[in-house]
Amino acid sequence: MTVSSKITITRPDDWHLHVRDGKFLPSVLGDTAQRFARAIIMPNLADPVTNTQRAADYRDRIIEALPNEYKLTFDPLMTLYLTNRTNASEIKKAMDSGFIHAVKWYPAGATTNSDKGVSDIVGCYDVLEAMADEGMPLLIHGEVTDPNVDVFDREKIFIDQFLSGIIKNFPTLKVVFEHITTEDAVSLVESASKNVAATITAHHMMLNRNALFQGGIRPHHYCLPVLKREKHRAALIKAATSGSKKFFLGTDSAPHTKSTKENACGCAGIYTSHGGIEFYAEIFDKAGALDKLEGFASFNGPDFYNLPRNHDKITLQRKKVKITEEFTFGDEVCVPFRAGGELNWSII
Ligand code: DOR
Ligand code: ZN
Repeated sequence: MTVSSKITITRPDDWHLHVRDGKFLPSVLGDTAQRFARAIIMPNLADPVTNTQRAADYRDRIIEALPNEYKLTFDPLMTLYLTNRTNASEIKKAMDSGFIHAVKWYPAGATTNSDKGVSDIVGCYDVLEAMADEGMPLLIHGEVTDPNVDVFDREKIFIDQFLSGIIKNFPTLKVVFEHITTEDAVSLVESASKNVAATITAHHMMLNRNALFQGGIRPHHYCLPVLKREKHRAALIKAATSGSKKFFLGTDSAPHTKSTKENACGCAGIYTSHGGIEFYAEIFDKAGALDKLEGFASFNGPDFYNLPRNHDKITLQRKKVKITEEFTFGDEVCVPFRAGGELNWSII
């Protein structure tokens, strides 16, 4: 059998991405726009993107900050940040804008800039109803925030306490369970209707929780949901490479400055956009499933979001490329995933 060392696929999209704001935007956008045609832009800015006007302004800032060669080729797909005070009438406005493609539910306190998130989802039921009516997807950070719940169990408990109920109460609502990390999440998505899908990151498929403590504490492997044990990592790879249309690529690339990561109370987030498709090629290759990469990276996302698939192609080859130790991030630096190591696949 010959093992392919090259693969051409329809240009992929990133269905879950953090690019931050202001001076940080130009440091990271090029990596994404070079690989992906579109990306779902997370709304968890320090001052969150809570309405259509804010999303329009944020979109303008992103386009302004894009390198010139990508200003016409890269489309930032905007999202709204759900709060206890989101008005149901905002959903139609967002849908009519044409550039807002989803609403993100952060349980208050679950992660970076989530303090203004939702503390009472039942109080948001009128908004969810409006979303179901409009066909606006709900993107979920699926972790409970109860400090008494073990940090490794937060996703599983969220399924039992919240997600199962939401899916039952809103069967026509489109739901993306974001950055899933457990076999429990895989099972939930597989057994749910076609309205329920999930994104999977490369880092959750490449690392298990041992990577947090490899010879010492590793702040650059800290993200939320936190890395899980090996059986869960294996379940994610199985799901992503299964050919199921319910799973698609979402890097959750989440840059933070080196100083806020290497800190007594370090931020959660891993920057992976420098290998946004390459890391997935490595994972699929290792799993003997390169033929499933295009569906996962280029078809399942747009099909779920009712958007057209991209037309142009990219070619990846099994060729090592050095990864920098750090890169300029605003007026500081950021340490990328696998810093100082290598990408095993690269784009031609
Ligand atoms: O690791 C994470 N980083 N998880 C999240 O949910 C948010 C993200 C960020 O914005 O830094
Ligand atoms: Zn995220």
